Amino acid sequence: MANHPLIAPSILSADFARLADEVAAVQGPPGSGADWLHVDVMDAHFVPNLTLGLPVVQSLQKSADLPLDCHLMIENPDRWAIGYAESGAYNVTVHVEAADDPVKLARDLRAAGSKAGLAIKPNTPLEPYVDVLKSYDTLLVMSVEPGFGGQKFIADVLDKVRKARTMVDTGHLNLVVEIDGGINADTIEQAAEAGVDCFVAGSAVYAADDPGRAVEGLRSQVQSASSRSRS
Ligand code: DX5
Ligand code: ZN
Repeated sequence: MANHPLIAPSILSADFARLADEVAAVQGPPGSGADWLHVDVMDAHFVPNLTLGLPVVQSLQKSADLPLDCHLMIENPDRWAIGYAESGAYNVTVHVEAADDPVKLARDLRAAGSKAGLAIKPNTPLEPYVDVLKSYDTLLVMSVEPGFGGQKFIADVLDKVRKARTMVDTGHLNLVVEIDGGINADTIEQAAEAGVDCFVAGSAVYAADDPGRAVEGLRSQVQSASSRSRS
């Protein structure tokens, strides 16, 4: 596990008519609050849902003080992902199931100034992509079928997290291991114990009365799970 666990609230569960306020609600003073802001881009083709695209990300880029973690659930990321990197996103994640040439795409994203992230759906195995992952900075393990917030956590994907963690800890890969889907107070500790570095949480943060406190609650659960697994 990374020394500093990262918490990335997903604005998919926020009120889209009040986005700036919703971002401010999870942004703390330095050293607290959310680490990244997770932005789910869906195109109604790769997934059966439509959310937001480049113009909204560009506006968020101007108004939010958090690094943007753009998760592109879109077809043809080889063509469209670059715009998100050029807009200043901190990390741009594409789905391996949608990318034609993921190694070239990672190179293009990095050349445009962002980190490169690779996402895998719950039923996509990790092994075939280990070489490809050498070109990437983050691995997003989906723990629900992509498309919607508020779904139930699929614990089976933690095997992939454990494998990725081992490859990172043994120096075979150099990646932030991120998990996305169904992360809440009931599931985050098992994800932490499996070796996740970055925890995306949508409904667990934005359905809470106080999203900022929800972020801190998740973070303290990760910290206690990691001190347990170290002892
Ligand atoms: C789902 C999205 C997730 C979603 C997670 O396709 O990628 O980022 O916002 O929402 P929760 O945390 O509610 O499962
Ligand atoms: Zn996501």
